[in-house]
Amino acid sequence: MTTNWNYPDPALQDELRKIANAIVAPGKGILAADESVSTMGKRLQDIGMQNSDDARRKYRQLLFTTCPTLGDYISGVILFHETLYQKAEDGTPFPELLKQRGIIPGMKVDTGVVPLFGSNDECTTQGLDDLGKRCAQYKKDGIHFAKWRCVLKIGKHTPSIQSLIENANVLARYASVCQANRIVPIVEPEILPDGDHDLVTCQKVTETVLAYTYKALWDHNVYLEGTLLKPNMVTAGAQSSCKAAPPDVARATVEAFQRRVPPAVPGVTFLSGGQSEEEATINLNAMNLHPGKKPWALTFSYGRALQASVLRAWGGKDENVKAAQDELLKRAKANSEAAVGKYVAGSVQGKAGEAGLFIKDHAY
Ligand code: 13P
Repeated sequence: MTTNWNYPDPALQDELRKIANAIVAPGKGILAADESVSTMGKRLQDIGMQNSDDARRKYRQLLFTTCPTLGDYISGVILFHETLYQKAEDGTPFPELLKQRGIIPGMKVDTGVVPLFGSNDECTTQGLDDLGKRCAQYKKDGIHFAKWRCVLKIGKHTPSIQSLIENANVLARYASVCQANRIVPIVEPEILPDGDHDLVTCQKVTETVLAYTYKALWDHNVYLEGTLLKPNMVTAGAQSSCKAAPPDVARATVEAFQRRVPPAVPGVTFLSGGQSEEEATINLNAMNLHPGKKPWALTFSYGRALQASVLRAWGGKDENVKAAQDELLKRAKANSEAAVGKYVAGSVQGKAGEAGLFIKDHAY
């Protein structure tokens, strides 16, 4: 019977909806600081540092001890497992530092991307087996939302039906396990920017991926009011010769969502996907200025586009911690303004400037 399924009980609906709405409150967004050990290693290597436990701890300490104003712009931080259990030099656990700033701790709960057998270099994401157990423990340890990243690729014959079905289904199963454990799932079907495709192709693929994703979320009885979507923006491919202007990116992206993202979803928290810091801010701003129906908050959940200047300003030196924290505050404020359509292009100059942050076949 098509009606033989249940909504979550009212208390759970309430809890999930409140968390999701707090994350996408006006002018607020997410700092994605959930780089895996190896990805963080690459970031540290870029500034001449070794990838040690302590180097990673010191860097996250820098982020989370930024002055409390950070909480005016950042509502949530996505952590990697080891960071949840690390402490600042004075012994304060990292989640406590976030709480003091009014920031909700979240967790990357997937365990990484793996190849799809027989496909044209496509992939799925693993980590379902013990997910329920891990979510139950994370909730006890103060985590209220989670992220799971799936990757889709634009090519002549991709994304394939195999990868569309598989990635939508694994995201939906993940989302349902999170909700069963009182954790808000951020659903991230990232379409990589790699390729020389044009804007329209990216829009069509985005519409297709979102259609599969929301069908699967429905199949798995996921409570949409207690979820967030973390998508790519609709842009031309990184190797395309015709780059789209911000109003075109905004139109194509908002149009794709109008067609595919139900209004019950409280918010869309974009990944930056290799755009420069300034580009990611300007495109987000353009989306919020775009006229037309936008029943969801449109905000940020940036990794590279919130941290490139911070890492550069820090350079691994204690005497630069304050300067690096100032970079984080500046960029967070710029994105907070963009999330309500009030950012003035060029008004914030970061250390990383307009440098593109594209990484081929990006892994997290
Ligand atoms: P970028 O903003 O660097 O694309 O990463 C955000 C993220 O969390 C990807 O999963």
